[in-house]
Amino acid sequence: MPRALITGITGQDGFYLSRLLLSKGYEVFGLVRGQNNPKIAALERDLPGVRILTGDLLDLSSILRALEASAPDEVYNLGAISFVAYSWENVSLTSDVTGKGVLNVLEAIRLYARDDAERVRFYQASSSEMFGKVQRVPQTESTLLWPRSPYGVAKVYGHYMTINYRESYGMHASSGILFNHESPLRGPEFVTRKITLAAARIAAGKQDKLYLGNLDARRDWGFAGDYVEAMWRMLQQDVADDYVVSTNETHSVQEFVERAFGRVGIDDWQRYVEQDARFLRPAEVDLLIGDSSKAHERLGWKPAVTFNALVDMMVDADVARVRNAEA
Ligand code: NAP
Ligand code: GDD
Repeated sequence: MPRALITGITGQDGFYLSRLLLSKGYEVFGLVRGQNNPKIAALERDLPGVRILTGDLLDLSSILRALEASAPDEVYNLGAISFVAYSWENVSLTSDVTGKGVLNVLEAIRLYARDDAERVRFYQASSSEMFGKVQRVPQTESTLLWPRSPYGVAKVYGHYMTINYRESYGMHASSGILFNHESPLRGPEFVTRKITLAAARIAAGKQDKLYLGNLDARRDWGFAGDYVEAMWRMLQQDVADDYVVSTNETHSVQEFVERAFGRVGIDDWQRYVEQDARFLRPAEVDLLIGDSSKAHERLGWKPAVTFNALVDMMVDADVARVRNAEA
């Protein structure tokens, strides 16, 4: 039975990846931080097969202990401070967790695996946010990185540290450059879930307005359930590498709003949506669109869920939550 250790298991991708690995017969261990983290109960309920270990990306010795306890064949580093807007308010913490946390995991694996560096395969959750002020359209694995947020800068550090450990120690370390991916489990601070929750609540008469920042920003949005399959495929390759994972389509925030409100039967969404400067960013990433040909050709991966299907799935889940008085 293969064994996997996942950091960030309480997050969106942690759920979908655990579910995928459990369905493939893996023994799955999840690193959870904090004392009495309230998310543990949800994890135990939703993914009863997962074994929980405590640890923090800021604490190398806790990661080393988790490696010894789980003896993994594969480590997926999904843990991060992942909300871009928050990263300007907590720059140092974001650098430590999202950036240096990657080094802590790599170094812990190196110490744990000793003279057999390839024994533990490593996946780093890198991000299209690294392309920032994009230097080429669409973005590929070789597009120059130009991050526009402290989060993006921290991810660039983690990405290059992953490559450096691969080149320095022969580690099987891959970096997945994933474009935005969403699901009904997406945190409500991210724009997609903020919109779908508001559309459901407004349609039910529970909310009057939706306040948003930049409606013109464009993203390449896919479904998280599809994207975790690409993570797993990367670690099944003989040779570690870096891959862009994207739908190769771009849509504006406004298009997302139109589709979401249309799904609940509201065509005049302009009546409910207002711009609020609080949600504008010091530096914006205006346009993201990936080219995932390499993942398609080498991993045999392509996304199944379209933009419209993704919006509908998220809206329908929030309509159900509102109906059940959960939101
Ligand atoms: P998410 O839902 O925000 O989950 C982040 C996870 O990181 C949570 O489990 C969180 O734990 C954990 N974490 C935070 N600080 C930690 C620390 N100090 N030590 C250990 N764990 C810590 O993020 P996601 O959407 O699943 O994304 C997974 C990864 O992919 C992240 O690294 C993200 O930056 C990256 N990524 C995401 C996207 C996307 O569109 N979703 C795209 C590209 C890359 P708590 O629950 O305890 O807070
Ligand atoms: N969150 C949020 N809230 N974003 C808004 C709002 C708002 O009210 N109004 C407009 N936006 C715009 C943001 O300015 C941004 O251009 C876009 O919507 C998407 O914002 P988020 O959903 O917060 O995601 P993100 O693109 O900044 O970051 C996500 O994707 C990255 C991959 O490119 C996160 O998941 C990152 O962790 C991930 O790496």
